[in-house]
Amino acid sequence: MDTLSLLLDRAALVDRYRAGRARTAAIFASIAPSAYYDAPIPLRHPFVFYEGHLPGFAYLVLHQRALKGGSIDPRLELLFERGIDPATIDVASRHLRNDWPDRAEVRRFGAACDAALIDDIAHARLDDPSNPLLVGAEALFNILEHEEMHHETLTYIIHRLPADAKHAPAIEVRDVMPARRDPIAIAAGRATLGQRRGEAFGWDNEFEQHVVDVPAFHIDAYDVTNGDYLAFVRDGGTPPPFWIERDGAWHLRGVYHEIPLPLSWPVYASHDDAEAYATWSGARLPSEAEYHRAAYGTPAGDERIFPWGSAAPVAEHGNFGFRRYDPEPVGSSPAGASAWGVEDLIGNGWEWTSTPFAPFDGFRPMASYPQYSADFFDGRHYVMKGASPVTSPNLIRRSFRNWFFADYAYMYATFRRTHS
Ligand code: AVJ
Ligand code: FE
Repeated sequence: MDTLSLLLDRAALVDRYRAGRARTAAIFASIAPSAYYDAPIPLRHPFVFYEGHLPGFAYLVLHQRALKGGSIDPRLELLFERGIDPATIDVASRHLRNDWPDRAEVRRFGAACDAALIDDIAHARLDDPSNPLLVGAEALFNILEHEEMHHETLTYIIHRLPADAKHAPAIEVRDVMPARRDPIAIAAGRATLGQRRGEAFGWDNEFEQHVVDVPAFHIDAYDVTNGDYLAFVRDGGTPPPFWIERDGAWHLRGVYHEIPLPLSWPVYASHDDAEAYATWSGARLPSEAEYHRAAYGTPAGDERIFPWGSAAPVAEHGNFGFRRYDPEPVGSSPAGASAWGVEDLIGNGWEWTSTPFAPFDGFRPMASYPQYSADFFDGRHYVMKGASPVTSPNLIRRSFRNWFFADYAYMYATFRRTHS
């Protein structure tokens, strides 16, 4: 008996694996070959690491650990096993190395991993209740979502490359502010966080499901925009690293293009800067449970699967899924609004919460990747919810939790003001 009621559609899963690899290849194709060994974010490894890490991690988790398969190249498997998330440049510098393999070798290794994995997905026993790594086909969904998360990591590292080190796709810039709206009252009520074991794949930090009683509060209909944040900067606030001042005018450094600062786009900011802005403006950040209330609660008292209802996420629900690389004006996806009328809760930038990343009651490190979350329960990382323009729709689910260091300023996270 399989442990998931869903029947694994092998052909669709092979397609999904290939689609993830194809997206990775397309992202890599935008990096100038001369930048292959660059690490434009010094806290992260150079690009070469990621080209080996994606197939290497998948091979290690599914083929070697879960299915007890053999080895392709023990040195490369070890080299590409895990990335870094150091707190300081000092710690990062201890991971510096000048002996990365050449690109042809990395690609040969990746192709060998892919061939073995595609064969596994097509033929191996992927869902096996007697193997902890294969309960509910955990290792398989782990590697598929791992690759999708790294599409975002790669994009925000490419973001930091100078323009002459990347090939830019076309960009469409609209900058229109929607009509002002008052903060929205969210009634006191229940929020269901996490998910139940045994129903579908989730990362370890998504378990167990539990209900939180949330007092009434108000929340802004839209994220804080660049225009809003500019007033804070003029009053001494720190400009985000995505902003550049040239000849007295602010510009936005988009993923591939520099453009005059679009005032109607959500501001991307670190958790610390988001909190500083909220305090400066007489407000605060929502807690994780408040985000859930605003996104999934309803005035009638029930809870939804997605802010807009139960339909699977599609383009009109929000700016996610690589429709474009950069944000759009706030309020551009009204079809994705929650039952209370709060907009852009999914897409156009992850949303910071005031909640430190910590385990839910009943947390167990996942068998297929025990360090996935546990290494980050240190009180210095904060929970982000939602999605960014470059988040896969496969990662859009109510229980999904993302997290980063409070002062990390490179990822695509925005925020909205909450009022008690
Ligand atoms: C969950 C996005 C914070 O990128 O550091 C990728 C995901 N973990 N490989 C990260 C992850 C291991 C992780 N985040
Ligand atoms: Fe990784």
